[in-house]
Amino acid sequence: MKILSFANQKGGEGKSALTKLTAGALSMAPFNLKVLVIDADTQGSIIAHRNRDIATLGEDYEFPYKVEFSFPEKLPKLITTIKQQGKYDVVLIDMPGRGYGDDINVLLSCLDIAIIPIAKGDEDTDASLDFLENLKQHNDERKKAKYPKLNLYILYNKFDNTANAKASVEIFEAIKEEFGIEEKILFLPLREDFQNYSPKTSTSILLELKGKQGHKKDTYESFIEFCKFIKKII
Ligand SMILES: Nc1ncnc2c1ncn2[C@@H]1O[C@H](COP(=O)(O)OP(=O)(O)OP(=O)(O)O)[C@@H](O)[C@H]1O
Ligand SMILES: [Mg+2]
Repeated sequence: MKILSFANQKGGEGKSALTKLTAGALSMAPFNLKVLVIDADTQGSIIAHRNRDIATLGEDYEFPYKVEFSFPEKLPKLITTIKQQGKYDVVLIDMPGRGYGDDINVLLSCLDIAIIPIAKGDEDTDASLDFLENLKQHNDERKKAKYPKLNLYILYNKFDNTANAKASVEIFEAIKEEFGIEEKILFLPLREDFQNYSPKTSTSILLELKGKQGHKKDTYESFIEFCKFIKKII
């Protein structure tokens, strides 16, 4: 079992949306994994959606994956318990955006894999560079403590083939070795239906979107490819 998070201190990069989509996709065919999502964002957006979904669909509704809430400082203890129970194949942690503060190392120390979603834009680039610096320091601490490295990947989210988006990718590709980022390049296109749809439910809508009007098949396929990759690294 691996603990994975879409992490970036910048808000709006797609952490929560990607957490829900990935959790939903991995818990359904063809993956059929046992997935737990821990909402460690004090805004509690995923747990709030789950509670709303329960209110609408009823207590007995079988959600594809489980959602729990944890305050950041309580996360290490919760993770230890979950590891002991061995009920899940993968745990996804929804990280807070701003305000990691002193909690950052507490949160990062719980993870095996961090996928850093980066959207195009100067602010996104600057904040993501700062976050990479934090991750580098965290991995230096792990090394000193002879603790396994936190595996880092970048996911270029909301990618749209514009010169701006390509320039952002070039910046990160040029420095990623220095920051200990794994070589694999992950892209997720900008898509209207993620924008309008994904935050509204605690479960993934990816599979439900298949075949819907306006849905681009290649994006669905690329997300499934992405999940195949995740399955390999967990
Ligand atoms: N590939 C994408 N294409 C279009 N919209 C996207 C994509 N990924 C995420 N979004 C949208 O971007 C918005 C911000 O995403 P999300 O709330 O997941 O960000 P976040 O990183 O969790 O932010 P916060 O730090 O505030 O929690 C949401 O409306 C989400 O649906
Ligand atoms: Mg979020």
